[in-house]
Amino acid sequence: MLGQFLAAARLHSPLAAQQLGLAGELTAISLRHARVGSAWASHLAASREVILEGANRCSRHGWALIIGAGDGRDVPVKELAERFELTVLADIVVSAAARNLARSNPGRVVCQPWDATGAIAELARRRNTISASEAVSLFEQAKPEPLPGMEPDLVVSANCLSQLGLIHSNAVPAARANPGLAERCAQAAACSHLRWMAQRSGTRVLIGDIARLDVAPDGHLLRREDWLQHLPLRPPDRVWRWNLAPIPEWSPDFHRVHEVGAWIEMSPVDPIPAGGGERVRVDGRIS
Ligand SMILES: C[S@@+](CC[C@H](N)C(=O)[O-])C[C@H]1O[C@@H](n2cnc3c(N)ncnc32)[C@H](O)[C@@H]1O
Repeated sequence: MLGQFLAAARLHSPLAAQQLGLAGELTAISLRHARVGSAWASHLAASREVILEGANRCSRHGWALIIGAGDGRDVPVKELAERFELTVLADIVVSAAARNLARSNPGRVVCQPWDATGAIAELARRRNTISASEAVSLFEQAKPEPLPGMEPDLVVSANCLSQLGLIHSNAVPAARANPGLAERCAQAAACSHLRWMAQRSGTRVLIGDIARLDVAPDGHLLRREDWLQHLPLRPPDRVWRWNLAPIPEWSPDFHRVHEVGAWIEMSPVDPIPAGGGERVRVDGRIS
């Protein structure tokens, strides 16, 4: 409880993000990492590797934009700071960890509070009166604030795709009254985010949750919930597992695992290549 309070106190978050529960989400992620971080190591390493692969494909190294940077654990900040003139860690909530990364790389890394959906401030303002259909169309139509200056040479969507537009039923009454509204808003926000990413002219890296798995202690799959099947995405270039909540963090009976995909230079309108493209799968048992 004390840890939660201290972590929340160190966040810089707009009022809208607090009102919608997004600041609390980032605090919860940080605290979970403090408890089970060793189980995340391979996921964080895989994310950093894919981001560096994207950086290597850039023809220019002016600036890099990392969206959903959070605490920056999955971002190779030092390496990006060496390669790019400026690396921007953008998130709806700026954490103390992200600010420390900026302080350690003065003039090369900055934190930017930035709403990737463009809808959060208005949703917070109308949260008590907005209807279900208005909430969905808000996420469909809103645009994020324009980027300052030139287009980034590298844009990374850092595992926030499934988080965008996830509205909390205790923050938005319409979500309490309409089961499934949170998922519809998340879907609309994810589609808009993919469209926005596709319009960027630099190298694009998308890292996002593909599915949620419940995995038994002996490694058997008990349940799988796919997340991306309705989104216009070709098969990912990399797939790995993130042991998000090992036993007993979420349940005494199963590990809660995310299957994560990464797309490099992705375009949502890319046709699926013949043969399905390279698909590297990390299927190891959960230890
Ligand atoms: C699963 S976390 C990933 C964080 C970080 N990349 C990591 O793995 O530690 C999702 C991130 O998306 C951010 N996020 C959620 N909604 C956002 C929005 N509308 N705009 C920008 N970032 C958002 C959250 O604050 C959180 O840091």
